Amino acid sequence: SSNTEPATERSLVLIKPDAVRRGLLGEILSRFERKGLVVEALELRTMDGELADQHYAEHVDKAFYPPLKNFMTSGPLAAAVISGDEVISVIRAMIGATDGRKAAAGTIRGDLALSNRENLVHASDSPDSAKRELALWFPNL
Ligand code: PPS
Repeated sequence: SSNTEPATERSLVLIKPDAVRRGLLGEILSRFERKGLVVEALELRTMDGELADQHYAEHVDKAFYPPLKNFMTSGPLAAAVISGDEVISVIRAMIGATDGRKAAAGTIRGDLALSNRENLVHASDSPDSAKRELALWFPNL
């Protein structure tokens, strides 16, 4: 919408426990790499309940949260910092809609997921949430 240079941003990406269990870590990272995005940090971590409550602060009172928390703490996930031009909206487009059954073909969830809980990837949805989530997961970066 303007003739200024695109802003380079950072997003927090979580490649969720279902992706690790299904052996899709390489496939999903590869899609981000092939797009031209830069993986600045990458760690296998297991989320504990406290981190889950902080990460999903805006969802803790929703009915879907207890099973979501149970799933997200169920095994190792890959936490990544990914950067690139307008990377927050670029990654959200690559991931597709929350529910894998509704996500468009060609997106990660559209191609590889069939659930709205076990949907393979989380990515920050705005610059403000990226800032908050990066501070939570990678405080030293
Ligand atoms: S909202 O209410 O529109 O903000 O929700 P949404 O952004 O679509 O989803 C927020 C996260 O909650 C997960 N989610 C669910 N988990 C389990 N069961 C159900 N029904 C469900 N609906 C939404 C969804 O996968 C999102 O997780 P993240 O990690 O942010 O992708």
